[in-house]
Amino acid sequence: TPRELQEHFDRTIEREQRIEPRDWMPDGYRKTLIRQIAQHAHSEIIGMQPEGKWITRAPSLRRKAILLAKVQDEAGHGLYLYSAAETLGADRGELTEMLLDGRQKYSSIFNYPTLSYADVGVIGWLVDGAAICNQVPLCRSSYGPYARAMIRICKEESFHQRQGYELLLTMMRGTPEQREAVQDAVNRWWWPSLMMFGPPDSESRHTARSMAWKIKRHTNDELRQRFVDMTVPQAEALGVTLPDPELRWNPERGHYDFGEPDWDEFRRVIAGDGPCNAERIAVRRAAHEEGAWVREAAVSYAAKQAERAGR
Ligand code: ACO
Repeated sequence: TPRELQEHFDRTIEREQRIEPRDWMPDGYRKTLIRQIAQHAHSEIIGMQPEGKWITRAPSLRRKAILLAKVQDEAGHGLYLYSAAETLGADRGELTEMLLDGRQKYSSIFNYPTLSYADVGVIGWLVDGAAICNQVPLCRSSYGPYARAMIRICKEESFHQRQGYELLLTMMRGTPEQREAVQDAVNRWWWPSLMMFGPPDSESRHTARSMAWKIKRHTNDELRQRFVDMTVPQAEALGVTLPDPELRWNPERGHYDFGEPDWDEFRRVIAGDGPCNAERIAVRRAAHEEGAWVREAAVSYAAKQAERAGR
């Protein structure tokens, strides 16, 4: 009966066991997961653009090989995540349509421009660092396919973060111009990185429900604090200044205090009005249209294979 199904679901969540694709689940749980996983997948795919544009302008063969590998990893992450969304009954083509016509979101962070090679390092350090902070707890998310995808994604993100930090260390040991480029990139990416964790808890419409379902394990503000605490000592080791005059250690709380991100800017960016939103979607749309022949060829090949197998 419906009541028994609901009770079985609740018990599974309560006992920290995983919900799997064939299990019964409430409609809202399925919808929340599709929204979050699709948004996450779109972010990985759109996230290839800001760094991808530097592949042809990498300063050495070594940097080029590293960046190429990193951007390819992001394509891979997008694909595992679309597959995870498909286990919930979502259609990949439809999800792409929803991204292109603005019905689904992707992370605010990828709407900012990359102005120098230092940005590649800062994206690795801060953006991928924030992604790891947010995603490690998702390895314990209650939905099996999502949690399992996150394990591999987090391992790769950790490589991305280190390559960024290593790039920045190298630049900080270089010329005054290189050090300035790093500081400039840090100034531009710091606040948008804090916004990646989502709106403040008081404005987060999904957190309470998602935490009760154990999809999310921490609130947006908890993870933002964890990221700040982790990053301040790294900034000191690197020799850069984080652009927040209110940033200081609070011994009573045992955490760093920090300033308030510009939430109006955040709202504008997720509503489509950030510095690069139009460009990101236009590039994604063109890639989708130019790839139509590949999808048609794959469908036609599959049909021929099925026909041969049927004979
Ligand atoms: N960028 C764009 N939209 C955002 C962001 C952000 N940084 N943060 C929150 N939002 C949106 C939410 O999607 C939601 O909008 P919707 O109802 O239209 O979907 C709205 O703002 C309110 O936010 P919350 O209620 O806090 O939403 P949620 O509980 O989903 O929390 C969070 C947001 C923390 C981003 C969560 O979805 C999550 O952990 N997602 C998985 C990680 C992820 O997507 N990472 C992508 C970037 S990292 C990378 O790819 C390198």
